[in-house]
Amino acid sequence: MLQWKELYQECNECTKCNLGSGRTNMVFGEGNPKAKLLFIGEAPGADEDRTGRPFVGRAGKLFEKGVQALGLTREKDFYIANICKCRPERNRTPDEDEAMACITYLRNQVALIKPKIIVCLGATAMKYIISPDWRITRNRGKWVERNGFYLTCTFHPSAVLRDENKKVSFWEDLKNIKRKYDEV
Ligand code: URA
Repeated sequence: MLQWKELYQECNECTKCNLGSGRTNMVFGEGNPKAKLLFIGEAPGADEDRTGRPFVGRAGKLFEKGVQALGLTREKDFYIANICKCRPERNRTPDEDEAMACITYLRNQVALIKPKIIVCLGATAMKYIISPDWRITRNRGKWVERNGFYLTCTFHPSAVLRDENKKVSFWEDLKNIKRKYDEV
């Protein structure tokens, strides 16, 4: 297991998959490295690739609005990262081999952060972190306890942007996550 600085360096120089050749910036993740709550998204989009920061585009703004309403901030209360650290062209879903190559870095981050709660934002994170047999629409909001982590998933904020009808469920899930956060 690498420590933060070495891990960052390795990610920044990574050429394990093709996404590395298309990146402007690697998006490592950010937040409180000792937080008990970790959010995991899919992969950087254009704004994230440009800035090197996760969830700063339109979807990120919606996400921030939600967590801020709960009184949670990136700086203090959670860490946020993605399955893939480099942007897939045209924001396509990362391929399995891209996800598998990159997830070792995320696992290293999890081992350093030691969060109590891991929340998957969207189907890609849910598939690789919780189970390929889960479906967001069916399983969102459900908790599983595994290896000392409480795991759950909710809609990806981009999906909420595309479909207003998901807003209420997304907000319910965030409140449910805050309840768990206060409990653990
Ligand atoms: N979507 C994601 O899954 N992650 C980001 O960082 C931005 C958009």
